[in-house]
Amino acid sequence: MSFTVAIDGPAAAGKGTISKAVASHFGFAHLDTGLLYRAVGAKVLAGADPVTAARALDPVDLENDALRTPAVAQAASEVAVIPDVRAALVAFQQGFARRDGGAVLDGRDIGTVICPQADVKIFVTASAECRAQRRFDELTGKGTDITYETVLADVKARDKRDRDRAASPLVPAEDAVMLDTSDLSIEQAVAQAIAIITDAGGVASRL
Ligand code: CDP
Repeated sequence: MSFTVAIDGPAAAGKGTISKAVASHFGFAHLDTGLLYRAVGAKVLAGADPVTAARALDPVDLENDALRTPAVAQAASEVAVIPDVRAALVAFQQGFARRDGGAVLDGRDIGTVICPQADVKIFVTASAECRAQRRFDELTGKGTDITYETVLADVKARDKRDRDRAASPLVPAEDAVMLDTSDLSIEQAVAQAIAIITDAGGVASRL
């Protein structure tokens, strides 16, 4: 039986951490859909055509730490405005969402476009400054040489591009539960997401 959890929100809001923890708590599979756009972005940086790269994407391409760099994130948000790129990635995401045993997908348009029938939708937010600080800590922790101001500018530029684009803009689904993580620890944010899913989904009785 399938059970789909859609987790959307702006850059570095904590979707990835929350999604992984929630998936592990309920024993669901997890897909970070940002990686699809990052993989296409990385191929474009290497000279490929975006639509051709999206159509040829192989799930193996997603397992690559090089996709986590700020340059690839910017390239991802640039290819993500192209409708044919987005269209090429829909079937894979919808197939993943329907898998037996439950699935958590995180991204920008999961609750609105990819899985409008998701059993639970959560929209994760936090202030831009808070998100930039977290991403700055994450990047410098991995040894990346970058300033907080650069990370904040990157986050704001991606937010604007994601919100303003015509194809699948970043917007909460009408039936999404909002989760503002600005003043929450990771543990508190995860606990709230688990409570939202348990309350809204009747998970135990569905699987
Ligand atoms: O981890 P972070 O939130 O910084 O970014 P990500 O989720 O890996 O997404 C990278 C970029 O891909 C975003 O800025 C979006 O432009 C795009 N994206 C999208 O358009 N739709 C999705 N479902 C997921 C990501």
